[in-house]
Amino acid sequence: MSATTELWYITGTSSGLGKAIAEKVLQRDGALVFGYARRNTIQHPRYHHHFIDLSDLQAVQQIQFAPTTPDIKLITLINNAGLLGEMTSISNIDNEKIVATYHVNVITPHILMNTFLQTYQHLEVKKCIINVSSGAAKTPYAGWSIYCATKSAIDMMSLVAAKEQSLLPEQTATRIIALAPGVMDTNMQQQIRNADAADFPAKNKFVDLHKNQQLYHVQDVAAKFIDVVLNDAPEQETIQRITL
Ligand SMILES: NC(=O)c1ccc[n+]([C@@H]2O[C@H](COP(=O)([O-])OP(=O)(O)OC[C@H]3O[C@@H](n4cnc5c(N)ncnc54)[C@H](OP(=O)(O)O)[C@@H]3O)[C@@H](O)[C@H]2O)c1
Repeated sequence: MSATTELWYITGTSSGLGKAIAEKVLQRDGALVFGYARRNTIQHPRYHHHFIDLSDLQAVQQIQFAPTTPDIKLITLINNAGLLGEMTSISNIDNEKIVATYHVNVITPHILMNTFLQTYQHLEVKKCIINVSSGAAKTPYAGWSIYCATKSAIDMMSLVAAKEQSLLPEQTATRIIALAPGVMDTNMQQQIRNADAADFPAKNKFVDLHKNQQLYHVQDVAAKFIDVVLNDAPEQETIQRITL
């Protein structure tokens, strides 16, 4: 087996985009992948799964990132796990679901960015954090207050982190990107199509995208995510969106 040259930490690797990214990264020689989710669906000698409920903030605060060796050339964190939360208007939402969704969508990515930078900031190694965003960060949809607000928070925490990194010496700075993947054919879209139109009036927009076969395939989006991580071009925007 070749030496480990890349460390990838990816949340939400049991389905959808996170699973597709992990599987594509594992095709890279020397890449070690650490995945985080409540379920595991990947078996590979270079894949390490961490069974965790990412709404459990005590457990999230226990997460530690691996020590490095001189062979490591790239360290990446992809905060991918995300939930729609309860789809209904404010006044009808179960408060517990508001709390749990903010935990997974906002507080956990914030803690993991913090832990990642505490662990690796000093290293003169290529480092990248991708926070998975959404068009919903910028567009208010009735019934999606939790989802829109949490994705908007992802954008702002990425902008602040990127500004902070820009003040550091280039050799140790970490690239931070909030990346919206476009509308993809995953369990999340199935959930949207199953929503009650009274609770989520824009439902038919997503039903039509599916009917007209306009959903992105996760494998194509995953390949673009890896391109973004590997892209060295300076002066990149912090907030980006995948187009296929
Ligand atoms: N699909 C789209 O059209 C679309 C569009 C824009 C943005 N996005 C974003 O893309 C990302 C991936 O979504 P997806 O479409 O791939 O969704 P998905 O197929 O539903 O996958 C969600 C992943 O997150 C994990 N997850 C959810 N809650 C968790 C929890 N409490 N603890 C641990 N893991 C948890 C799930 O793992 P377990 O259930 O095993 O825990 C699963 O691996 C999300 O951030 C989403 O907001 C998706």
